[in-house]
Amino acid sequence: MLRMSILAGLCCAAVTVATGAAFAADPAEGKATYEQRCASCHEMADWKAKSVQDITDGVLGVATGKTTHKKPVKLTDAQAADVAAYLVSTK
Ligand code: HEC
Repeated sequence: MLRMSILAGLCCAAVTVATGAAFAADPAEGKATYEQRCASCHEMADWKAKSVQDITDGVLGVATGKTTHKKPVKLTDAQAADVAAYLVSTK
């Protein structure tokens, strides 16, 4: 019986890792990035007023340098997607 539950645990851990790799946007990862790189200037209230589309476009624009931003922030595509997913998830 014990052996069965260990196997079951391994099975689910493997599925979680595989899913994480398949879907790039990870709100938990985005939260960490946001808190390190963005939260010193931005308040969560700033994002509440914006639509999901504006958040996604805004974060990607800033991350890629397409949107003018007082402080240039360099994020990888994956980091930008994570941050956008996090901000959208708090709405
Ligand atoms: C040093 C302060 C500072 C940091 C750090 C910072 N921002 Fe900003 N951000 C601003 C200010 C000030 C504005 C509004 C004026 C402007 O656009 O420059 C702004 C505006 C924005 C906008 C709206 C742009 C638009 O006009 O559509 C987005 C989106 C944004 N920031 C995303 C981010 C993200 C994502 C991060 C972290 C990776 C970040 N910012 C980090 C200061 C900062």
